[in-house]
Amino acid sequence: MYFGADYHPEHWVYPLAGTPENPEERWERDAQLMVQAGFNVVRMGEFSWGLCEREEGKYDFGWLRRAMDIMRRHGLNVVLGTPTAAPPLWLAKKHPEILPVNERGETLHEGTRRAYCMNSDIYWEYAKKIVRAMANALGDHPQLIAWQIDNGIGGHHTEASFNEQSAKDWYAWLKAKYDTVERLNDCLGLRFWAQVVTRFEDVPMPMIAPTVHNPALLVDWMRFCSDTCVAFVRCQADILHEITPNVPVTTNLRALTRNFDHFDMAQVLDFVSVDSNATINAKSAENACEIDMLRSLKKDEIRAPNGDCGFWVIEQKAGHVNWQEVNSLVRPGVVRLFTYQLISRGASGVLYFFFRQPRIGAEKFYGGVLNHQGHGENRVYKEIAHIGEEMKLLAPAIKDTKVVAEVCILYSHDNAFAMKLPGQPNKHFNSREHLQLFHTAFHDRNIPVDFARPTEDLSRYKLVIAPSLQMLAGGEADLLKLYVQNGGTLMATCNTGLVDEHHIAPDDGFPANCTDLFGIEIGEFDPLPPGEENHLTFKGAFPASHLHPARLWCDLIEPKGAQVLATYAKDFYAGRVAMTMNEYGLGKAIYFGTVSHQHFYYDLVAWLRQVCNLFPLLKVPDTVEVSMRQKDDRKIYFLLNHQHSHVRLHFYKPMHDFLTGQTFTGNYDLPSHGVLVLDETVPVQEAPKEGAPAEQAPATAQAEADLAPA
Ligand code: GLA
Repeated sequence: MYFGADYHPEHWVYPLAGTPENPEERWERDAQLMVQAGFNVVRMGEFSWGLCEREEGKYDFGWLRRAMDIMRRHGLNVVLGTPTAAPPLWLAKKHPEILPVNERGETLHEGTRRAYCMNSDIYWEYAKKIVRAMANALGDHPQLIAWQIDNGIGGHHTEASFNEQSAKDWYAWLKAKYDTVERLNDCLGLRFWAQVVTRFEDVPMPMIAPTVHNPALLVDWMRFCSDTCVAFVRCQADILHEITPNVPVTTNLRALTRNFDHFDMAQVLDFVSVDSNATINAKSAENACEIDMLRSLKKDEIRAPNGDCGFWVIEQKAGHVNWQEVNSLVRPGVVRLFTYQLISRGASGVLYFFFRQPRIGAEKFYGGVLNHQGHGENRVYKEIAHIGEEMKLLAPAIKDTKVVAEVCILYSHDNAFAMKLPGQPNKHFNSREHLQLFHTAFHDRNIPVDFARPTEDLSRYKLVIAPSLQMLAGGEADLLKLYVQNGGTLMATCNTGLVDEHHIAPDDGFPANCTDLFGIEIGEFDPLPPGEENHLTFKGAFPASHLHPARLWCDLIEPKGAQVLATYAKDFYAGRVAMTMNEYGLGKAIYFGTVSHQHFYYDLVAWLRQVCNLFPLLKVPDTVEVSMRQKDDRKIYFLLNHQHSHVRLHFYKPMHDFLTGQTFTGNYDLPSHGVLVLDETVPVQEAPKEGAPAEQAPATAQAEADLAPA
């Protein structure tokens, strides 16, 4: 387990710290405070280019090596960021063509980070030089355990840039994809508004125009920008692998926000790292959804430091931020709670951003582990140091354990790109919110969930949810059929298969290429404005606990062999089908043609549990979040109380808490923001906290009976 912070030694030299005689004096004290907080790792260097190369070709990595040497003396490992996220000013002055150009054709100027176009050959050359120089200068340092490539790729909306060089790369990309101009015209549907081209060089970049661009062209543009982001990271990864083959590479990603294919990006990395907003976004299910998504980006061939199998949270908020309208303090206990949420969902490294609140620059009002004063007496430092003590207890227990899920939600970036286009049937249909309805239902019922893209091997999952894959490629549909044919259960929803991979709508009904799989055909659908509702009438075995609404979108389903599970209650399509289930091969394909409220999804999960033989990890009160990490038979449960009041748990079987060493049996009140890390192996010598003395509890395959709602 790695535990630490993002450290910027360059912020802490004379005159901001230290003395004229010893400008770097403060670094030693910082390292001491880190060790005192239980840290074993720091990330540094990610914005340091202008200090490592103040003038072109004149490198100075000595200060970073001195900082690393200090870390060494204190037993702290180092992750080094390649500094390409912040090009030096001299480079932009010498080569203004590296600066990004926005869709209005305006140059975004230098003087801040991310001021570069990822298509610029010149930028690539300079980036390669500085990465090579850094790897040669510092790659042999014994403290170096990983590289972080760049920082926040795509951040500040820099995935796309409309430079001359981008145009050249765009034409080449299109040529490689379509080979002939005829094929390009056909696949992009350029007959529409007669936007056909006779040369690849005439295909526009989708810059600001009187009205919308062709959607197929827009999706391709986003794919092109995504490939550019991935190629830029790969180019650095190749250099680092060549010079330091034993040092794994990563980069810091964010869930579901940036416009590039994160699965593609994860393939270039040895392990995934993420920036987390947990603690700021206090909605635990939303955080959990994002963590599950990021964990799922790389399931195999992970090469993390110390042979770990998880992902890292390389930036976790230590406290408040500076980019909300009101940046309130993070309440006591909340950083700890969300740190455990990250770990419970598979993190094998957690680093807080910042180590110390900077006295200079754009983020000086951003909370750190240390505040501006830096003496280690502040509340956040003490809280994090307490977590550090707990990490020492926990690390051996969770080593090599991971989250195992039997349910998976499909996510495709191509589809995400398509759903971002203008001209949607219902602009109030929000795919993120839709996905969250499903995730929350599983999360709140303590059933672990992975994410996957439709082209992955899904055979490891009992249940696959496909929420609104509006853009569904023919090949993807075939793989879904194969999954169901072989016995899987698939559930898809409205807004599925409206277009294929070329953004062409089918001429034989929705969902494209899947009407046989679901045993249905959809000729028309009725998007509803927010606030307007239809209602669902359920048939047969579906356990409806409430009157469930149909919102935002109503598919009018024609069953073609599928069993009917629900119909609409009103409007001209009263009695028409809203939900179906079809036997296909050895499996089942379920289709839900609308969007409901959260209660429906709870009922759905209860029903799917029976259909797919799924079990919650533990039975606990609804407000307690449960996750589990496991290795073989060893299972470690994390219980998190997200409420502002205590929650009563009832232990039917003694369980041992790693954090306190206590054994619980009978009733226990988990305090507000409290955390338990439990297993079923009770050391015989320990006395239970209350009730009968603990005995060695046998590990059971399914722990459902161990805890129950109080
Ligand atoms: C990102 C960046 C950091 C910092 C934070 C602020 O995560 O990587 O450098 O700017 O955002 O939230």
